Amino acid sequence: MIIGVPKEIKTAERRVALTPAGARSLTAASHTVFVETTAGEGSGFEDDLYLAAGAEIRPEADQVWNEAEMILKVKEPIAPEFDRMRPGLILFTYLHLAAAADLTARLLAARVVGLAYETFQRSDGSLPLLAPMSAVAGRLSLQAGAYALETNNGGRGVLLSGVPGVRPAKVVILGAGVAGLNACLVAVGIGARVCVLDINQDRLEALSHLTSGRAVTLMSNEVNVEEEVSRADLVIGSVLIPGARAPKLVSREMVGGMKPGAAIVDISIDQGGCCETSCATNHFEPTYVEQGVVHYCVTNMPGVVPRTSTLALTNATLPYVMEVADKGCHRAIEDNPEIASGLNVLEGEVAHEAVARSLGLPWRTPN
Ligand SMILES: NC(=O)c1ccc[n+]([C@@H]2O[C@H](COP(=O)([O-])OP(=O)(O)OC[C@H]3O[C@@H](n4cnc5c(N)ncnc54)[C@H](O)[C@@H]3O)[C@@H](O)[C@H]2O)c1
Repeated sequence: MIIGVPKEIKTAERRVALTPAGARSLTAASHTVFVETTAGEGSGFEDDLYLAAGAEIRPEADQVWNEAEMILKVKEPIAPEFDRMRPGLILFTYLHLAAAADLTARLLAARVVGLAYETFQRSDGSLPLLAPMSAVAGRLSLQAGAYALETNNGGRGVLLSGVPGVRPAKVVILGAGVAGLNACLVAVGIGARVCVLDINQDRLEALSHLTSGRAVTLMSNEVNVEEEVSRADLVIGSVLIPGARAPKLVSREMVGGMKPGAAIVDISIDQGGCCETSCATNHFEPTYVEQGVVHYCVTNMPGVVPRTSTLALTNATLPYVMEVADKGCHRAIEDNPEIASGLNVLEGEVAHEAVARSLGLPWRTPN
């Protein structure tokens, strides 16, 4: 198969969808890999490393998009890329369609085969291609929160760890999944007072066990969320219903009831965000203040630590990329239910139930 790796063009996105080591595995399996020049530069992978791995460097994005049968990307296509969609093209990337009606319409009209990293699901319910970036975003959320709490950024001037004789900050984490757990581990490590809420008792038990009880765990319901959020210095939103828009757990009124200068890091913003006051931001202007609360809502948080993120992402995606390249998309979808669960759009129809429900569109299981 001919596999294309374009340079990411989303603001401040420096990840790339394939490392030179990944390219070597694909070319060793007799696949052809085209990489747009400088695509890996932001992650510290120069063109010559891809050449040494048997890939070909293409000077223009057009060449990569037009010649490839499968495009590997990191982020969802944005407006300048919309016209590159064409029938039968396999687009393998994060898509987050549940919160993106325009993009969905584009992909359907162009009859693209859309495989979305974030909906790949194992039989135990885990999300193998979301997990590495959620781990990065979760860990990063404490750095982002610490920054948001600085007075220069509108924050209340609280140091997460406190100092001897001064109470550490209170961090409230909504969602005890991969991002929430990783945020919790860093928050506990820093010495913050941490409370984690989830609707899944097993997740809460696992987290409590992993932190040796140093994080308080609470069942997520409106009463508990309201009470904890009102006491928080920092709220981290990391809830997910796979394929669907994030549930709005924190209402505008709850935000209004927070301490002035408190901060919200809404990691789940890529699925629409779990706070009513959350609006997507980017790495150049990551925060804004609403109701006296600093909001950090960057949709591609891992993009700011591209080296770590690119390596972690390719570790996870390569086995699936290889299977699709070896078997072709249709056989791979038939053979592997994890790949089938990643299918979001096919032949002009939505092929993922939760995505379709979020958008109010019909859906069809592919034959
Ligand atoms: N902004 C970014 O750059 C970035 C990067 C990576 C991941 N993410 C996003 O982070 C979010 C979390 O991802 P994840 O991999 O940790 O997901 P996950 O499935 O591992 O965890 C989500 C958790 O949310 C819980 N949950 C669902 N509804 C809830 C509710 N009402 N109250 C409390 N908890 C609830 C689930 O039980 C689950 O434990 C996703 O939206 C993902 O797309 C964003």
